[in-house]
Amino acid sequence: MDIKLRERIDSIISKMTLKEKIGQLNQEAVSPKDLEKIKERVRNGELGSIILASTATAGNDAQEKVYYEVIDEIQKTAVEESRMGIPLLFGRDIIHGYTTVFPVPLALSAMFNPDLVKTAYSHIAKETKNNGVNWTFAPMIDISRDSRWGRCIEGIGEDPYVGGVMAEAIVKGFQGEELSPSSVAATAKHFIGYGAAEGGRDYDKTEISDYTLRNFYLPPFKKAIDAGCATVMNSFNEINGTSTAASKKLLRKMLKGELSFEGFVISDWGSVEKLVFFGQASDKKEAAKIAINAGMDMDMVCRAFFDNLEALVSEGKVSEATIDEAVSRILGVKLKLGLFENPYVVRQDINIEETEDCAEKCADEAMVLLKNNENILPLKKEAAVLFAGPMLSEKHSLMGSWSADGDVTRVKSIKEVLKESKVNAFFAESDYLWDGILPFVRMADAVVLTLGESRKVTGEANSLTKVELPAEQMEFIKRVHALGVKIIGVMAFGRPIALFDAEPYLDAILYIWHSGTRSAQSAVSALYGDVNPSGRLPMSFPRYTGQIPIYYNREKGAIPLNSYYGETNKRVHSYHDSLATPMYPFGYGLSYTEFSYGEITSDKTKISLKDLEAGDGFSLSITVKNTGEREGAEVTQVYITDKVSSMVRPIKELKAFSKNVLKPGEEVKLNFFIDFEKLGYYNDEGEFTVEEGEFDIWIGKDAYVTDKITVTVE
Ligand code: BGC
Repeated sequence: MDIKLRERIDSIISKMTLKEKIGQLNQEAVSPKDLEKIKERVRNGELGSIILASTATAGNDAQEKVYYEVIDEIQKTAVEESRMGIPLLFGRDIIHGYTTVFPVPLALSAMFNPDLVKTAYSHIAKETKNNGVNWTFAPMIDISRDSRWGRCIEGIGEDPYVGGVMAEAIVKGFQGEELSPSSVAATAKHFIGYGAAEGGRDYDKTEISDYTLRNFYLPPFKKAIDAGCATVMNSFNEINGTSTAASKKLLRKMLKGELSFEGFVISDWGSVEKLVFFGQASDKKEAAKIAINAGMDMDMVCRAFFDNLEALVSEGKVSEATIDEAVSRILGVKLKLGLFENPYVVRQDINIEETEDCAEKCADEAMVLLKNNENILPLKKEAAVLFAGPMLSEKHSLMGSWSADGDVTRVKSIKEVLKESKVNAFFAESDYLWDGILPFVRMADAVVLTLGESRKVTGEANSLTKVELPAEQMEFIKRVHALGVKIIGVMAFGRPIALFDAEPYLDAILYIWHSGTRSAQSAVSALYGDVNPSGRLPMSFPRYTGQIPIYYNREKGAIPLNSYYGETNKRVHSYHDSLATPMYPFGYGLSYTEFSYGEITSDKTKISLKDLEAGDGFSLSITVKNTGEREGAEVTQVYITDKVSSMVRPIKELKAFSKNVLKPGEEVKLNFFIDFEKLGYYNDEGEFTVEEGEFDIWIGKDAYVTDKITVTVE
C-alpha cells in the first residue's frame, strides 16, 4: 500500500473511538422512508455503508427506487454532522445494467469479447454513479456447471479462463484501470464455490477439494483482485464442512494472504448471522466473533458486528487490532474512491442513445446460432413469416433477472420491432393456445416460434429440476411441426437448457438469452441477417437435465474413453437412455458464414522448464479464413492439456481465444503466446507448477476441436 495512504488511514483510525470503528464495519438496509432515523444513526457514527436494497432477493423483487438527492442528504449528515465526518459507501446490486439493461452476465460471456464487456460496464458505471451508487455488488464470478442453479445466469459460465477474462473486464469497466474518484467500487462475489451448490439448489452445501478449488473456482477471483477489485463478498454456502463466513483458511489465508487482496470483505446478506443456522455459532455474538476473526470486514444487514463487537473486545475475544485492520481496509476503499474530498453525487450527462447502442451491440454478439439447417436463416425480408409463441410480446423477461432499475418503457417486444421493420411478418398472438396460429400458418413460408422462460424463474432462489423446454412450449412446437412448415426457434432463456427433445422439430435455433433493453432489436436483426450471430457457448448444453453437471474441462476418466468428446462407442461411460455427449459443446456457435483453419505452427517444439520459469514461452500461429459469402466473426479457441502429469488433469482447458471479424475471403494470422501460466496448474500441495513432458495444444472453433500440435517441456 502507498505510504501516504497508509499514513492517512492510521491518522484517521487514531482519532476514532472503538464504537466509531465498529460503526464502519456495519452495513444496513434502510429505507429512504425512514430518513430521519437513518440520519440520526449516521450522525452517531453507527454505519459505514448503506445497502440500497429493500429485500434479500433483490434480483427478482421490485426494489425501492434510489433517489440521488436522498443519498446526498444522508451523505451530508455523515460528512458534516458525525464526529469523524467519514463518508458512507452506498451499495446496490448493479449486475448487468442500471436503467439501460445489458444482456445477463452469462450472455455477456457468450460474446467472447472482453473489450466490449469492459465498454459495456463503463456505460453501466456512469448510470450507476449518476444515481448516487458508489459501490456495486458485481461481478459475480462463480463458476457453474449446473444450469438448474438459477444463479448461473448471473455468472460467467463453466470456464475459469473465460471467468478470469470476464472478471477483469467487468472490474475495469466499473472501476477503470485503478480504483479512483471516477470509479464505482466493484465486488468480486461470491467467495467461494457458491456455483457448486449440490443439485443446483440455491444456497445448498458444496464439497470442493483444494485441488478443484484452486484450479477451477479460484482463477476468476485472482484476476478480479489483480485488476484491483475493491471488495470481495463471501458466499452463502457451506464448503467442505464450514460456512465461508467462518473460514479463516479461505478469507484470511487464501484471499488476504495468498491472493494479496488489499480491499475489504463484505458478508453476503446476513451471512454472519447464518453461522447460527449452520450450527457453527450458538448465537449472533459468537457468530460475530467467528466471522471477524476469520477475516470478514463488513457485516451486511444483520447487525451481528454492531451489536456485539464492543463486548467481544472487552472480553478479549476479538482484538482491537483485528477491528483496526477491518476499518483500515474499509477506509482504504473510501479514500481511494476520493469520497473524503468529493462525497456527493456528481451528475454527468449521459448519452442514452449511445448506452443503448452499446447494449444492442452486446445483445448482437451474445446471441448463439445453435442450428441452421439448409441455411434457413437469415430470413428473406419478403418471405411470409408467421411469428408466434409466448415471448412475442414479452418485455420484462427480456431484461432478465436483476433488472429492478431497468426502464421497461424503453424495451420493445419482438413484435413491436418487427412491426417497425420493413419485413413481411405476421403474427399469432402469444397468449393464444397453439390453435391461435391455425388461421395463419398455411400462408407462411416459415414459422418463428419465440420461446423462453420468465426472468422470475432465473436468478437468486430460482432453481429448477428440469431445464428443458416448458411442456406447453414443447407441445406448441409439435403442433406446428405436424402442419409441415419450417420452424425457427428463437429462445429467450437466461440459462442453458436441454434441447434434445425439441431440436428435431426445429430447422433453426437462435439462442437470444435474456439480453436486456435491446434484445428484440438484436433478435430481429439476426433473424433477417443484418447481424451475423457470433456468440459462443460459455456453458455446455446438455441433451437432458439428467446429464448435469456437464462441462468440457473435466478430468480424464478411468477408462480411456471420454463421454463428453463422443468416444462412447462402447457405451462404457454412457447412459442407457442417452448419449453422454452434450447437445452442444462449450465454445460452440454457428455463423451465417464459414471459417477454415490452416495448420498450427509453433516457433519451438521444445522449451526448457527453466526458460519458462524465467518468463520465456513459445508462440503458436494459425491462419483463419472466412470462406463464406458474408462478413462474420470467428472465435478462435486455444485448448491445452498436459499429457502426463502427477495429478489427473482435464482433457482440455481453454487458455486463450481471439475474436476476429473477417470479410468474405479475408484471412488473418493469429499468434498465441504460451507461457508458464498457461501451462501450469495447482498441484496437491497448492503449488502452481509446470511439469516436464509433452503438452497437446489444440486450436479451433470449440471444445470439440481435433487439430493439435505437441510441444515438449524438458
Ligand atoms: C445475494 C448477493 C447480493 C446481496 C445484496 C444476496 O442475497 O446473494 O449476491 O449482492 O443479496 O442484495
